[in-house]
Amino acid sequence: MKKAFYLTTAIDYANGSPHLGHAYEKILADVIARCKRLTNNKTYFLTGLDEHGQKVQQAAEKEGISPQQRCDGIALEFQNLLTQLNISNNDYIRTTQQRHKSVVSKLLQDLFDRGEIYKAEYKGFYSTRAEQFLQEKDKIDGEWPKIYGEVTEISESNYFFRLGKYQDWLIEHLNKNDDFIIPHFRKNQVLEFLKEPLNDLCISRPKNRLSWGIPLPFDENFVTYVWFDALVNYVSACGYGEEKFDEYWPADLHIIGKDILAPPHAVYWPIMLHASNLKLPKQILAHGWWMTSGEKMSKSSGDTVNPLDLIKKRGVDPFRYFVMREMTVGQDADFSVERFESRYKTDLGNDLGNLVSRLFHMIEVYEGGVVPEVELNEEFEQNIRSNFEKTKSEVLKCFDLFQFNQGLNQIFVFIRSINKYADERTPWKLAKSDDPKDRLLLKTCLGVMCESLRLAIQMLAPILPEVHSRVNQLMGLPPCESWETDLCWDFRLAGQKLEKKIILFPRD
Ligand code: ME8
Ligand code: MG
Repeated sequence: MKKAFYLTTAIDYANGSPHLGHAYEKILADVIARCKRLTNNKTYFLTGLDEHGQKVQQAAEKEGISPQQRCDGIALEFQNLLTQLNISNNDYIRTTQQRHKSVVSKLLQDLFDRGEIYKAEYKGFYSTRAEQFLQEKDKIDGEWPKIYGEVTEISESNYFFRLGKYQDWLIEHLNKNDDFIIPHFRKNQVLEFLKEPLNDLCISRPKNRLSWGIPLPFDENFVTYVWFDALVNYVSACGYGEEKFDEYWPADLHIIGKDILAPPHAVYWPIMLHASNLKLPKQILAHGWWMTSGEKMSKSSGDTVNPLDLIKKRGVDPFRYFVMREMTVGQDADFSVERFESRYKTDLGNDLGNLVSRLFHMIEVYEGGVVPEVELNEEFEQNIRSNFEKTKSEVLKCFDLFQFNQGLNQIFVFIRSINKYADERTPWKLAKSDDPKDRLLLKTCLGVMCESLRLAIQMLAPILPEVHSRVNQLMGLPPCESWETDLCWDFRLAGQKLEKKIILFPRD
């Protein structure tokens, strides 16, 4: 059985409604998944919901419902967002599902049996907001940073996972595997974090303080710490302990935000896997944050953008295009409605939308709606073809390196060059001429424009799946399934009857 390209996103906290940050991450993962499928990879794309923890328990109490009821409501909200965003995930894991809980128990019991987990007395500071223990060194200028919310001093027995003894092993792994964390500068931040001695990780919470969690299999007075629970989703979803597991694991790519790289994904998770004798994921991609007014957009900041509002106004593809075009993967980006509208009107409306309606209109009135044969190959035609070949190789390289904004830029440079080609050939003038050479030039020009548009649309498919399938349908083509076969300059549309023109990106 061929192993699938297995990619995952973070599983979102069920403690609030989704916002632009969540939407972006799912779109980024979806675009990568679609690129993989178009390059003939069997692909398994997982996303899901992180349902346990204090904040969920507290929010449910406030509303007077059970935590599970609250999670069920939030799950519907997040799943609706995935549908609205046209996300092609293969699976959706919820940490309250039995398939997940039993894998968490199995891993914990195994680690406990082998002495990797021990019980000890803990005295120290605890942040409810971050759901983690703090140390004096976490203070800044003698104060607890605001992100920790209220910090209280507590003393209790807990279970600890022997993280510390794997510190040198992890540093070596990071140094030996340069592509384990991308962008590369983030690896250095992890190594920086690992310069301090690594403490063992407290992986339990007493049930009297937190009941909304997975019970420890070896002590029912405790539930599992949220990160030890949540991270396990990546192996529980693909059948840890079952035969099919090897078709998926190790994951090829974990996509997460930079706030949850170190320590959870770059320190806890590799060590949890290694201590459990499981292979490590091949790569972790940490993306940046969407910001508003200079701050991370977050549930607690209140200043969030609801993606559904933008989708309602302009459709799903313009939204997908905007987030992929505006953000350099790995860096932060600012959101503004003006930027969104400007991308919509300029790139999508003027460059792509006008090309489609202009071309379909000309083929309709000059050629009775049938794509003409191309018989001439003069300098203008040779130029646009070589433009395409160059664009294709650069775009595929950019997409492979997750440089989607640059790849999209290249595609739109190419699209503008199709418009420029039309301005050079002036088919509207050629159509008025009786000269047989002009008739041939007209047919050639329209045929070349059609072929160029077809190819641009196939390259846009992962980012604009809806536009891609609509335009393909107008051209009588099935949806693109493989770039290897569909990104070839071969005039396959000659003789094809086109549907009537459409407005892809209407103005208000
Ligand atoms: O962290 N811009 O859940 P979460 C970009 N349950 N990305 C953002 C963002 C922003 N403004 N705000 C959040 C959790 N994100 C855990 C994950 S994984 C085993 C458990 C991203 O709902 C964030 O970086 O707080 C994370 O990758 C994802 O949204 C879910 O965040
Ligand atoms: Mg968060």
